[in-house]
Amino acid sequence: MSMDTADNILSATDLHREFQTTEGTLPVLRGVTLEVKKGQMAVVTGASGVGKSTLLHLLGGLDRPNTGDISIGRHLLGTMSETDLARFRNQRVGFVFQFHYLLSDFTALENVMIPMFLADKPHREAVERGELLLESVGLIDRKTHRPHELSGGEQQRVAVARALANDPDIVLADEPSGNLDTGTGRKLHDLLIRLNSENSTSFLIATHNRELADTCRQEFVMAGGRLAEN
Ligand SMILES: Nc1ncnc2c1ncn2[C@@H]1O[C@H](COP(=O)(O)OP(=O)(O)OP(=O)(O)O)[C@@H](O)[C@H]1O
Ligand SMILES: [Mg+2]
Repeated sequence: MSMDTADNILSATDLHREFQTTEGTLPVLRGVTLEVKKGQMAVVTGASGVGKSTLLHLLGGLDRPNTGDISIGRHLLGTMSETDLARFRNQRVGFVFQFHYLLSDFTALENVMIPMFLADKPHREAVERGELLLESVGLIDRKTHRPHELSGGEQQRVAVARALANDPDIVLADEPSGNLDTGTGRKLHDLLIRLNSENSTSFLIATHNRELADTCRQEFVMAGGRLAEN
């Protein structure tokens, strides 16, 4: 194994994913290969419908490719059972989506703590880390608020804190600012950039936002079911 490969936190080789539709077979990913280095902040851009979300779902183990391999750290996703994959996802991968998917009956702090409960982290530690994370996204004074008592930007910041709960190897973010106005979206991007540089958590972000893409050192452009590095 070369040094280069050892530095990768995420690697995917020749991923293919097609969907069966009433119109027939729809090939979406036609040989996607990528590497993201530890601590990197990378973006995936490309036209709507090109397959960015499909790719992120595969990379995070939410869906499986028809063929091709995905590794996170030294772990090969394809060989894991569904149960192992679910546990791995909870502990090693953070997700941020366009819509926050916070649980409406729980407070901001409880939402951030949920992945830690699932990982059997002791309650006291989960509270402490949850508070630390809310502090770092600027929402500690909102910890007892439920999602509906928060603005869209605040909800997304809670979702970011939740994604970081178990100190994942990589955070996969799918249009994290897609529902936010320009100014609020920019603040969310600044937050992601700060968290990346402070904690050296790796990020892979699917986005249509040119400003964010230009800020990231690594850009993968998706077209025709493949990626090109920009
Ligand atoms: N489960 C599915 N079954 C059938 N087709 C699907 C499925 N999931 C995605 N697709 C199709 O795959 C293609 C890629 O979709 P995807 O959501 O990955 O695009 P995207 O690049 O994320 O687009 P956007 O920028 O609009 O979010 C689309 O044509 C979509 O209709
Ligand atoms: Mg998408």
